[in-house]
Amino acid sequence: MKLELAKDVFYVGIIDWNLRDFHGYSTHRGSTYNSYLVLDEKIALIDNVKAPFTDEFIENIKEVIGDLNKIDYLICNHLEGDHTGSLPKLVELCPNARIVTSERGKAGFLRMYKKNWDIQAVKEGDTISLGKRTLTFVPVPMVHWPDSMVTYLTPDNILFSNDAFGQHYASSKRLDAQNPLSEILEEAKKYYANIVMHVSGIIKNVLKKVTEDLKLQIDMICPSHGIVWKEHIGVILKHYTMWANRETVEKALVIYDTMWHSTEKMAIAITKGIQEEGVDVKVFRLTGMDLSDIITEVLDARGVLVGSPTLNNGMFPTVGAFLTYFKGLRPPTKIAGSFGSFGWNPKNAMDQVMAELKEARIPEIMAPLTYNFIPDPEELVKCKEFGKEFAKKIKS
Ligand code: FEO
Repeated sequence: MKLELAKDVFYVGIIDWNLRDFHGYSTHRGSTYNSYLVLDEKIALIDNVKAPFTDEFIENIKEVIGDLNKIDYLICNHLEGDHTGSLPKLVELCPNARIVTSERGKAGFLRMYKKNWDIQAVKEGDTISLGKRTLTFVPVPMVHWPDSMVTYLTPDNILFSNDAFGQHYASSKRLDAQNPLSEILEEAKKYYANIVMHVSGIIKNVLKKVTEDLKLQIDMICPSHGIVWKEHIGVILKHYTMWANRETVEKALVIYDTMWHSTEKMAIAITKGIQEEGVDVKVFRLTGMDLSDIITEVLDARGVLVGSPTLNNGMFPTVGAFLTYFKGLRPPTKIAGSFGSFGWNPKNAMDQVMAELKEARIPEIMAPLTYNFIPDPEELVKCKEFGKEFAKKIKS
């Protein structure tokens, strides 16, 4: 698939139509591993693809330049296997090309691939001239790994942003304007929530550096997954700024699991209370539910309530799995709370849920609401009141 995005800048990546799981993250719309060829007096290949797609990838490159040995630079913005899996084969096919990556990337490459490759490590502001064009490198540690960097091409003003601004989204059209904006934003949101939400502070600084300090003119953003941003650069920058600032909306999530439907009865009554206060609410029973979809909702939800029955003196396993994922991603949640039914010990499950919510650094956590076995009608009224109180806090 030969696609010229700008004069002498070609898309040579891979569309992974059938991907449905990316290290535990559900990818309902597949994904892409993007790679770009920049042709000038020197030729640079920016990023590469997952190992199983190497042969198809090489054919894509050949379609543009014929002989891979013409490549002078293999720019590696990020060490992770979805962007470097085909590197060993590329090095074989273009032995004269120099691998260029960040200083932390160099150490990672030597460790991960265990090859005696000649690697040029770059730091912020380093440049490589390709002839009429120049590549400038800016390391962005933790977006997504410590080695991550972005590459900026002038005078074309193209930002090769690697994981940043990406989406797991397979489509036959590579440009933003050729795809439904709502779909690509939905996937960009899911990507942000599951991959980089925990480093929002770092992303905020990077956005400031790129747009305010360096004042980079950006005419195209070429991420390593999903579509290329060209028509809607302002839209994705606005969303990234909102997410990086940890902005939330008036929305509550009721996330629970249940054994004999008692905790579920409480969840339903609590949800009614939230609804009656006019706050948007979404409900998830964890059994069989996709955590990466729930986390997408967490990204802009102001309040999260977690319900768990007590099992073996502790919280329900699905609740434990959710809270482990939730706290690791450092959610922007402003207020949280817990509820649940117990058989003979009112404390154990709630103590564990509360401890996890504290570890997630939620600023305000309501006292838990618990009932023995099946909640009776008066107790369900209290559940509804609990939901109302929670909603009022969200609105205040
Ligand atoms: Fe798309 Fe962090 O790799």
